[in-house]
Amino acid sequence: MRIPFGTISVTDKSRELVLDALNTNRLSSGKYVREFEKRFAELVGAKESVAVSSGTDADILALAVLYDFGAERGDEIIVPALSFVATGNAVLAAGFTPVFVDVDRKTLNIDPLRIDSAITKKTRAIMPVHLMGKPAEMDIINEIAGRHKLYVIEDAAEAHGAVYKGKNAGTLGDMGAFSLYVAHIISTVEGGIITTGNEAFAEVLRSLRSHGRACKCKSCVLNTASAYCEKRFGSNGSGDIRFIFERIGFSSKMNELEAAVGLGNLDIYNEILSKRRENLYYLLEKIRQFSPHIVSIEKEPYEEIGPHALPMIIQEGSRFTRKQLVAHLEKSGIDTRDLFTSIPTQCRGFAFTGHKKGDFPNAEYIGENGIHIGVHQDLGEEECDYIINTLEEFLTRHA
Ligand SMILES: Cc1ncc(COP(=O)(O)O)c(C=O)c1O
Repeated sequence: MRIPFGTISVTDKSRELVLDALNTNRLSSGKYVREFEKRFAELVGAKESVAVSSGTDADILALAVLYDFGAERGDEIIVPALSFVATGNAVLAAGFTPVFVDVDRKTLNIDPLRIDSAITKKTRAIMPVHLMGKPAEMDIINEIAGRHKLYVIEDAAEAHGAVYKGKNAGTLGDMGAFSLYVAHIISTVEGGIITTGNEAFAEVLRSLRSHGRACKCKSCVLNTASAYCEKRFGSNGSGDIRFIFERIGFSSKMNELEAAVGLGNLDIYNEILSKRRENLYYLLEKIRQFSPHIVSIEKEPYEEIGPHALPMIIQEGSRFTRKQLVAHLEKSGIDTRDLFTSIPTQCRGFAFTGHKKGDFPNAEYIGENGIHIGVHQDLGEEECDYIINTLEEFLTRHA
Protein backbone atom coordinates (compact mmCIF):
# COMPACT_ATOMS: atom_id res chain seq x y z
CA MET A 1 0.00 0.00 0.00
CA ARG A 2 1.15 3.60 -0.66
CA ILE A 3 0.23 6.40 1.71
CA PRO A 4 1.47 9.64 0.12
CA PHE A 5 1.85 12.63 2.40
CA GLY A 6 -0.45 14.91 0.44
CA THR A 7 -2.84 15.18 -2.44
CA ILE A 8 -4.68 17.85 -4.39
CA SER A 9 -8.26 17.58 -5.66
CA VAL A 10 -8.61 19.13 -9.11
CA THR A 11 -12.33 19.23 -9.92
CA ASP A 12 -14.09 19.39 -13.30
CA LYS A 13 -15.14 22.93 -12.42
CA SER A 14 -11.45 23.86 -11.96
CA ARG A 15 -10.59 22.36 -15.34
CA GLU A 16 -13.40 24.36 -16.94
CA LEU A 17 -12.28 27.61 -15.31
CA VAL A 18 -8.62 27.02 -16.18
CA LEU A 19 -9.59 26.49 -19.82
CA ASP A 20 -11.81 29.56 -19.78
CA ALA A 21 -8.96 31.66 -18.42
CA LEU A 22 -6.59 30.29 -21.05
CA ASN A 23 -9.08 30.79 -23.87
CA THR A 24 -9.91 34.35 -22.90
CA ASN A 25 -6.26 35.21 -22.26
CA ARG A 26 -7.17 36.61 -18.81
CA LEU A 27 -4.45 35.05 -16.72
CA SER A 28 -3.13 37.65 -14.32
CA SER A 29 -5.02 38.32 -11.09
CA GLY A 30 -8.65 39.03 -12.03
CA LYS A 31 -12.24 37.91 -11.54
CA TYR A 32 -11.47 34.36 -10.39
CA VAL A 33 -9.00 35.61 -7.81
CA ARG A 34 -11.59 38.07 -6.51
CA GLU A 35 -14.27 35.36 -6.38
CA PHE A 36 -11.86 33.08 -4.54
CA GLU A 37 -11.13 35.85 -2.01
CA LYS A 38 -14.84 36.49 -1.39
CA ARG A 39 -15.67 32.85 -0.92
CA PHE A 40 -12.63 32.15 1.27
CA ALA A 41 -13.52 35.09 3.53
CA GLU A 42 -17.10 33.81 3.79
CA LEU A 43 -15.93 30.32 4.64
CA VAL A 44 -13.65 31.51 7.42
CA GLY A 45 -16.12 34.14 8.63
CA ALA A 46 -13.74 37.02 8.00
CA LYS A 47 -14.78 40.41 6.65
CA GLU A 48 -12.13 40.45 3.96
CA SER A 49 -9.39 38.34 2.45
CA VAL A 50 -6.49 39.10 0.13
CA ALA A 51 -4.97 36.37 -2.04
CA VAL A 52 -1.22 36.23 -2.63
CA SER A 53 1.28 33.89 -4.22
CA SER A 54 2.28 31.71 -1.24
CA GLY A 55 1.69 31.11 2.44
CA THR A 56 5.10 32.60 3.11
CA ASP A 57 4.06 35.78 1.28
CA ALA A 58 0.85 35.78 3.31
CA ASP A 59 2.99 35.86 6.48
CA ILE A 60 5.35 38.50 5.05
CA LEU A 61 2.62 40.83 3.80
CA ALA A 62 0.53 40.54 6.97
CA LEU A 63 3.61 41.61 8.92
CA ALA A 64 4.51 44.38 6.46
CA VAL A 65 1.04 45.91 6.98
CA LEU A 66 2.24 46.93 10.44
CA TYR A 67 4.55 49.61 8.94
CA ASP A 68 1.40 51.56 8.11
CA PHE A 69 0.31 51.24 11.73
CA GLY A 70 3.28 52.45 13.72
CA ALA A 71 5.87 49.68 13.34
CA GLU A 72 9.45 50.42 12.33
CA ARG A 73 12.01 48.30 10.53
CA GLY A 74 13.90 46.10 12.98
CA ASP A 75 11.04 45.96 15.48
CA GLU A 76 10.45 42.60 17.11
CA ILE A 77 7.89 39.92 16.33
CA ILE A 78 7.35 37.04 18.74
CA VAL A 79 7.16 33.64 17.04
CA PRO A 80 7.34 30.05 18.24
CA ALA A 81 10.76 28.40 17.97
CA LEU A 82 9.16 25.33 16.38
CA SER A 83 7.50 25.85 13.02
CA PHE A 84 8.13 25.34 9.36
CA VAL A 85 11.11 27.58 8.64
CA ALA A 86 8.89 29.90 6.55
CA THR A 87 7.58 31.48 9.76
CA GLY A 88 11.07 32.70 10.72
CA ASN A 89 12.02 33.54 7.15
CA ALA A 90 8.89 35.66 6.77
CA VAL A 91 9.68 37.83 9.79
CA LEU A 92 13.13 38.58 8.39
CA ALA A 93 11.86 39.10 4.85
CA ALA A 94 9.34 41.64 6.18
CA GLY A 95 12.21 43.56 7.79
CA PHE A 96 11.50 42.66 11.40
CA THR A 97 13.51 40.81 14.06
CA PRO A 98 12.17 37.41 15.11
CA VAL A 99 12.09 36.75 18.85
CA PHE A 100 11.71 33.05 19.38
CA VAL A 101 9.76 31.50 22.25
CA ASP A 102 9.84 27.81 23.09
CA VAL A 103 6.77 25.65 22.49
CA ASP A 104 4.69 23.42 24.71
CA ARG A 105 5.56 19.81 23.86
CA LYS A 106 1.95 18.67 24.29
CA THR A 107 0.37 21.19 21.93
CA LEU A 108 3.38 21.82 19.63
CA ASN A 109 2.41 25.51 19.86
CA ILE A 110 4.00 28.58 21.38
CA ASP A 111 4.02 28.26 25.17
CA PRO A 112 1.85 31.23 26.20
CA LEU A 113 3.44 31.35 29.64
CA ARG A 114 6.80 32.24 28.12
CA ILE A 115 5.55 35.12 25.97
CA ASP A 116 5.44 37.90 28.57
CA SER A 117 9.14 37.68 29.35
CA ALA A 118 10.03 37.92 25.65
CA ILE A 119 8.26 41.27 25.22
CA THR A 120 10.41 44.40 24.97
CA LYS A 121 9.80 48.02 23.98
CA LYS A 122 10.42 47.00 20.36
CA THR A 123 7.84 44.22 20.25
CA ARG A 124 5.07 44.97 17.73
CA ALA A 125 3.26 41.68 17.27
CA ILE A 126 2.85 38.09 18.34
CA MET A 127 2.63 35.59 15.49
CA PRO A 128 1.41 32.28 16.90
CA VAL A 129 1.36 29.28 14.56
CA HIS A 130 -1.49 26.75 14.73
CA LEU A 131 0.94 23.94 14.06
CA MET A 132 -0.58 20.80 12.54
CA GLY A 133 -3.91 22.64 12.65
CA LYS A 134 -4.05 22.61 16.45
CA PRO A 135 -5.18 26.06 17.57
CA ALA A 136 -2.70 28.02 19.67
CA GLU A 137 -3.94 29.22 23.08
CA MET A 138 -5.50 32.35 21.59
CA ASP A 139 -7.34 33.61 24.68
CA ILE A 140 -4.09 33.96 26.60
CA ILE A 141 -2.19 35.28 23.57
CA ASN A 142 -4.86 37.92 22.87
CA GLU A 143 -4.93 38.91 26.52
CA ILE A 144 -1.15 39.43 26.55
CA ALA A 145 -1.33 41.31 23.24
CA GLY A 146 -4.10 43.55 24.56
CA ARG A 147 -2.15 44.32 27.72
CA HIS A 148 0.98 45.31 25.73
CA LYS A 149 -0.85 46.88 22.74
CA LEU A 150 0.55 44.34 20.28
CA TYR A 151 -0.94 43.05 17.05
CA VAL A 152 -1.70 39.36 16.67
CA ILE A 153 -1.11 37.69 13.33
CA GLU A 154 -2.06 34.04 13.10
CA ASP A 155 0.20 31.86 10.99
CA ALA A 156 -2.74 29.70 9.95
CA ALA A 157 -0.82 28.04 7.08
CA GLU A 158 -1.82 24.59 8.35
CA ALA A 159 -5.07 25.55 10.07
CA HIS A 160 -7.84 25.42 7.46
CA GLY A 161 -10.89 24.17 9.33
CA ALA A 162 -9.42 24.73 12.81
CA VAL A 163 -11.87 26.12 15.36
CA TYR A 164 -11.05 27.66 18.75
CA LYS A 165 -13.92 28.28 21.18
CA GLY A 166 -16.44 28.62 18.36
CA LYS A 167 -14.33 30.86 16.13
CA ASN A 168 -12.42 29.82 13.03
CA ALA A 169 -8.68 30.11 12.68
CA GLY A 170 -8.06 33.23 10.64
CA THR A 171 -10.51 35.28 12.73
CA LEU A 172 -8.76 34.93 16.08
CA GLY A 173 -6.27 37.79 15.72
CA ASP A 174 -5.86 40.93 13.63
CA MET A 175 -4.96 38.93 10.52
CA GLY A 176 -4.67 35.27 9.60
CA ALA A 177 -2.18 34.00 7.02
CA PHE A 178 -3.02 30.74 5.23
CA SER A 179 -0.96 28.64 2.84
CA LEU A 180 -2.74 27.22 -0.20
CA TYR A 181 0.16 24.99 -1.19
CA VAL A 182 -0.55 21.57 -2.70
CA ALA A 183 -0.76 19.40 0.41
CA HIS A 184 -3.01 21.85 2.26
CA ILE A 185 -6.76 21.45 2.80
CA ILE A 186 -7.73 24.10 0.27
CA SER A 187 -5.15 24.48 -2.42
CA THR A 188 -4.48 26.72 -5.39
CA VAL A 189 -1.32 24.67 -6.17
CA GLU A 190 0.92 27.48 -4.96
CA GLY A 191 -0.70 30.34 -3.11
CA GLY A 192 -1.63 32.00 0.12
CA ILE A 193 -4.36 34.21 1.52
CA ILE A 194 -4.67 36.67 4.38
CA THR A 195 -7.96 37.06 6.23
CA THR A 196 -8.84 40.09 8.31
CA GLY A 197 -11.75 41.84 9.96
CA ASN A 198 -10.16 45.22 9.29
CA GLU A 199 -10.76 46.78 5.86
CA ALA A 200 -7.86 49.21 6.40
CA PHE A 201 -5.46 46.25 6.70
CA ALA A 202 -6.97 44.68 3.57
CA GLU A 203 -6.41 47.91 1.60
CA VAL A 204 -2.76 48.00 2.59
CA LEU A 205 -2.41 44.29 1.75
CA ARG A 206 -3.78 44.91 -1.76
CA SER A 207 -1.20 47.65 -2.23
CA LEU A 208 1.64 45.54 -0.78
CA ARG A 209 1.03 42.59 -3.10
CA SER A 210 1.31 44.90 -6.09
CA HIS A 211 4.61 46.72 -5.43
CA GLY A 212 3.19 49.13 -2.85
CA ARG A 213 1.05 50.92 -5.46
CA ALA A 214 -1.45 53.58 -4.46
CA CYS A 215 -4.22 51.40 -5.96
CA LYS A 216 -6.80 50.16 -3.47
CA CYS A 217 -9.41 48.36 -5.60
CA LYS A 218 -10.50 44.85 -4.72
CA SER A 219 -10.44 43.96 -8.38
CA CYS A 220 -8.44 45.80 -11.04
CA VAL A 221 -10.45 46.78 -14.13
CA LEU A 222 -7.25 46.93 -16.15
CA ASN A 223 -6.63 43.27 -15.40
CA THR A 224 -10.19 42.04 -15.61
CA ALA A 225 -11.64 43.94 -18.55
CA SER A 226 -8.92 46.18 -19.98
CA ALA A 227 -11.43 48.93 -19.30
CA TYR A 228 -10.58 52.56 -18.72
CA CYS A 229 -9.76 53.09 -15.04
CA GLU A 230 -11.38 56.27 -13.86
CA LYS A 231 -9.36 56.32 -10.68
CA ARG A 232 -6.03 56.16 -12.41
CA PHE A 233 -5.51 59.84 -13.19
CA GLY A 234 -6.93 61.59 -10.16
CA SER A 235 -8.32 65.08 -10.11
CA ASN A 236 -5.52 66.34 -7.84
CA GLY A 237 -3.00 66.22 -10.68
CA SER A 238 -0.68 63.85 -8.88
CA GLY A 239 -0.30 61.53 -11.89
CA ASP A 240 -1.00 57.87 -12.59
CA ILE A 241 -1.75 56.09 -9.31
CA ARG A 242 -0.38 52.87 -10.78
CA PHE A 243 2.99 54.56 -10.66
CA ILE A 244 2.68 56.11 -7.26
CA PHE A 245 4.28 53.77 -4.73
CA GLU A 246 3.09 54.52 -1.24
CA ARG A 247 5.07 51.88 0.63
CA ILE A 248 7.78 49.28 0.12
CA GLY A 249 5.92 46.56 -1.73
CA PHE A 250 6.21 43.04 -3.04
CA SER A 251 5.24 41.20 -6.21
CA SER A 252 2.87 38.64 -4.77
CA LYS A 253 -0.33 38.45 -6.76
CA MET A 254 -2.22 35.19 -7.26
CA ASN A 255 -3.02 34.37 -10.88
CA GLU A 256 -6.30 33.23 -12.46
CA LEU A 257 -5.15 29.64 -13.08
CA GLU A 258 -4.34 29.21 -9.39
CA ALA A 259 -7.65 30.77 -8.33
CA ALA A 260 -9.48 28.44 -10.76
CA VAL A 261 -8.03 25.40 -8.98
CA GLY A 262 -8.90 26.95 -5.61
CA LEU A 263 -12.51 27.69 -6.60
CA GLY A 264 -13.02 24.01 -7.45
CA ASN A 265 -11.57 23.10 -4.06
CA LEU A 266 -13.97 25.46 -2.29
CA ASP A 267 -16.93 23.68 -3.92
CA ILE A 268 -15.94 20.42 -2.21
CA TYR A 269 -14.46 21.97 0.93
CA ASN A 270 -16.91 20.30 3.31
CA GLU A 271 -16.25 16.87 1.81
CA ILE A 272 -12.48 17.36 1.96
CA LEU A 273 -12.63 18.67 5.50
CA SER A 274 -14.88 15.95 6.88
CA LYS A 275 -12.87 13.14 5.25
CA ARG A 276 -9.61 14.53 6.59
CA ARG A 277 -11.08 15.15 10.02
CA GLU A 278 -12.49 11.64 10.17
CA ASN A 279 -9.05 10.25 9.31
CA LEU A 280 -7.22 12.45 11.80
CA TYR A 281 -9.56 11.81 14.73
CA TYR A 282 -9.61 8.06 14.00
CA LEU A 283 -5.81 7.97 14.00
CA LEU A 284 -5.49 10.16 17.10
CA GLU A 285 -7.74 7.74 18.98
CA LYS A 286 -5.90 4.62 17.78
CA ILE A 287 -2.45 6.04 18.34
CA ARG A 288 -3.07 6.36 22.07
CA GLN A 289 -2.28 2.63 22.42
CA PHE A 290 1.34 3.41 21.49
CA SER A 291 1.87 5.70 24.46
CA PRO A 292 4.33 6.05 26.17
CA HIS A 293 6.56 5.29 23.17
CA ILE A 294 4.86 7.48 20.58
CA VAL A 295 2.46 10.33 21.37
CA SER A 296 0.50 12.78 19.28
CA ILE A 297 -1.59 15.86 20.07
CA GLU A 298 -4.88 15.75 22.00
CA LYS A 299 -8.09 17.42 20.93
CA GLU A 300 -9.54 19.71 23.62
CA PRO A 301 -13.33 19.93 23.99
CA TYR A 302 -13.31 23.62 23.02
CA GLU A 303 -11.53 23.13 19.72
CA GLU A 304 -11.52 21.39 16.37
CA ILE A 305 -8.12 20.57 14.97
CA GLY A 306 -7.59 21.59 11.36
CA PRO A 307 -6.84 18.15 9.89
CA HIS A 308 -3.56 19.01 8.17
CA ALA A 309 -1.53 15.91 9.12
CA LEU A 310 -0.87 13.45 11.94
CA PRO A 311 2.07 14.45 14.14
CA MET A 312 3.93 11.79 16.16
CA ILE A 313 6.68 12.31 18.71
CA ILE A 314 8.92 9.53 19.95
CA GLN A 315 9.19 9.77 23.71
CA GLU A 316 12.21 9.45 26.00
CA GLY A 317 13.03 5.88 26.98
CA SER A 318 11.85 4.34 23.71
CA ARG A 319 14.09 1.60 22.36
CA PHE A 320 14.16 3.00 18.85
CA THR A 321 15.19 6.15 17.06
CA ARG A 322 13.29 8.40 14.66
CA LYS A 323 15.58 7.15 11.90
CA GLN A 324 14.52 3.55 12.53
CA LEU A 325 10.82 4.44 12.69
CA VAL A 326 11.02 6.52 9.52
CA ALA A 327 12.89 3.71 7.70
CA HIS A 328 10.16 1.25 8.68
CA LEU A 329 7.32 3.54 7.62
CA GLU A 330 8.93 4.56 4.34
CA LYS A 331 9.76 0.91 3.50
CA SER A 332 6.12 0.11 4.17
CA GLY A 333 5.02 2.78 1.69
CA ILE A 334 4.03 5.45 4.25
CA ASP A 335 5.44 8.88 3.41
CA THR A 336 6.90 10.75 6.37
CA ARG A 337 7.99 14.31 7.04
CA ASP A 338 10.03 15.59 9.98
CA LEU A 339 7.99 17.62 12.44
CA PHE A 340 10.05 20.69 11.50
CA THR A 341 12.90 22.18 13.49
CA SER A 342 13.76 24.62 16.20
CA ILE A 343 14.26 27.52 13.79
CA PRO A 344 16.85 29.44 15.85
CA THR A 345 18.97 26.44 16.85
CA GLN A 346 18.43 23.76 14.22
CA CYS A 347 18.29 25.84 11.01
CA ARG A 348 21.75 26.89 9.88
CA GLY A 349 20.52 30.13 8.33
CA PHE A 350 19.46 31.38 11.75
CA ALA A 351 22.88 30.85 13.39
CA PHE A 352 23.39 34.64 13.17
CA THR A 353 20.74 35.08 15.88
CA GLY A 354 23.36 33.78 18.33
CA HIS A 355 21.21 31.15 20.00
CA LYS A 356 22.81 27.96 21.17
CA LYS A 357 21.57 24.39 21.39
CA GLY A 358 19.56 24.00 24.57
CA ASP A 359 17.91 27.44 24.40
CA PHE A 360 14.64 25.91 23.15
CA PRO A 361 14.55 22.41 24.63
CA ASN A 362 10.97 21.54 23.66
CA ALA A 363 11.27 22.73 20.08
CA GLU A 364 14.64 20.97 19.79
CA TYR A 365 13.24 17.73 21.20
CA ILE A 366 10.43 17.73 18.64
CA GLY A 367 12.92 18.77 15.96
CA GLU A 368 14.90 15.61 16.71
CA ASN A 369 12.08 13.18 17.52
CA GLY A 370 8.97 14.31 15.68
CA ILE A 371 7.48 13.28 12.36
CA HIS A 372 4.18 13.83 10.59
CA ILE A 373 2.27 11.81 8.03
CA GLY A 374 -0.71 12.46 5.75
CA VAL A 375 -4.42 12.29 6.67
CA HIS A 376 -5.71 13.60 3.35
CA GLN A 377 -8.98 13.08 1.52
CA ASP A 378 -7.71 10.22 -0.67
CA LEU A 379 -7.19 8.07 2.41
CA GLY A 380 -9.90 6.10 4.23
CA GLU A 381 -10.32 3.64 7.06
CA GLU A 382 -8.40 0.91 5.24
CA GLU A 383 -5.35 3.14 4.85
CA CYS A 384 -5.64 4.40 8.44
CA ASP A 385 -5.75 0.80 9.70
CA TYR A 386 -2.71 0.03 7.59
CA ILE A 387 -0.84 2.93 9.26
CA ILE A 388 -1.80 1.66 12.72
CA ASN A 389 -0.87 -1.96 11.89
CA THR A 390 2.48 -0.84 10.50
CA LEU A 391 3.20 1.10 13.70
CA GLU A 392 2.09 -1.85 15.83
CA GLU A 393 4.37 -4.20 13.94
CA PHE A 394 7.29 -1.84 14.47
CA LEU A 395 6.62 -1.34 18.15
CA THR A 396 6.21 -5.06 18.81
CA ARG A 397 9.64 -5.56 17.30
CA HIS A 398 11.13 -2.76 19.42
CA ALA A 399 9.27 -3.42 22.66
C1 LIG B 1 3.48 26.96 9.54
C2 LIG B 1 3.76 27.36 8.13
N1 LIG B 1 3.93 28.66 7.83
C3 LIG B 1 4.16 29.06 6.57
C4 LIG B 1 4.20 28.17 5.52
C5 LIG B 1 4.51 28.65 4.15
O1 LIG B 1 3.55 28.33 3.19
P1 LIG B 1 3.97 28.20 1.63
O2 LIG B 1 4.69 26.89 1.49
O3 LIG B 1 2.67 28.23 0.92
O4 LIG B 1 4.84 29.35 1.31
C6 LIG B 1 4.01 26.80 5.77
C7 LIG B 1 4.04 25.83 4.68
O5 LIG B 1 3.40 24.85 4.66
C8 LIG B 1 3.79 26.38 7.11
O6 LIG B 1 3.63 25.10 7.41
